[in-house]
Amino acid sequence: MEVVPIAFDSLGARSMCTFVKTSDLNILIDPSVALGPRRYGLPPHEIEIKRMTELMVDIRKHIEVSDLVVITHYHYDHHNPDDARLLAEKKVLLKHPKDKINRSQAERAAFFLERLREVEADVEFADGRSYDFDGVHVSVSSPVYHGANPRLGFVLEVFIEDGDTFLFSSDVEGPIHREQLNFMLESDAETVFVDGPMTYMLGYRFSAKSFESSIQNLIELIDKTNVKRIVVDHHLTRDLDYRKKIDSVIRRGEEAGTEVLSAAEFLGKEDLLLEARRKELYSKKT
Ligand SMILES: [Fe+2]
Ligand SMILES: [Fe+2]
Repeated sequence: MEVVPIAFDSLGARSMCTFVKTSDLNILIDPSVALGPRRYGLPPHEIEIKRMTELMVDIRKHIEVSDLVVITHYHYDHHNPDDARLLAEKKVLLKHPKDKINRSQAERAAFFLERLREVEADVEFADGRSYDFDGVHVSVSSPVYHGANPRLGFVLEVFIEDGDTFLFSSDVEGPIHREQLNFMLESDAETVFVDGPMTYMLGYRFSAKSFESSIQNLIELIDKTNVKRIVVDHHLTRDLDYRKKIDSVIRRGEEAGTEVLSAAEFLGKEDLLLEARRKELYSKKT
């Protein structure tokens, strides 16, 4: 199995889009990308817009070569209604549009599903379900909180197995809660991509308590599973000091032989934390 981060916050824009090439099937998870509308009181910089456009082009290329597309929830950094036509006649596993969802995501889900129907995509609601596609096992979690509570709705986690194993957490912002961690423990994947704690909002929209339990849960993931590498990204890599914030997790990983890294580092690249550097981008003369 080859797991390739396509668009992530550490690659320059908000996303967790991941391509998984298995023995028999190409899978794309959460094919979209977005920019933080305001950061440090500033709108996206033109460098961010340019980068997002590049990532979008790459996402579209990967939609075309995918047999299966998974959409874990209906935020615009995870699904793009404008690209529904690219999903024509493809198999699409989706978060249920009405159960365990908040109002804003339910409205977006209805709109997106309408677009998918127009292009005759082969749509299935995947909450809590498992699938076998010619030797490739795909298992989807029951809905778990998007972050600390259900205000932002629910997301699905995705486990893929073809001999090798991969887990995708979607927007758990931690994981903060036992319910979010449980599916990760049960899956016991060698490679895990997780949405890390939202430390750039620490003390505002992310409590010290949520942060503390995220750290404990990431350590528990290292201790209780055979995970070899954990990509921690998305909400976490909006913080320039993210490494310091998860220092105890990185150290536990070193003791256990588990790499803890960003999506960019996973690809052997340097972090491109454009949103976190937005103030600096504006202060530079280009
Ligand atoms: Fe989200
Ligand atoms: Fe997200």
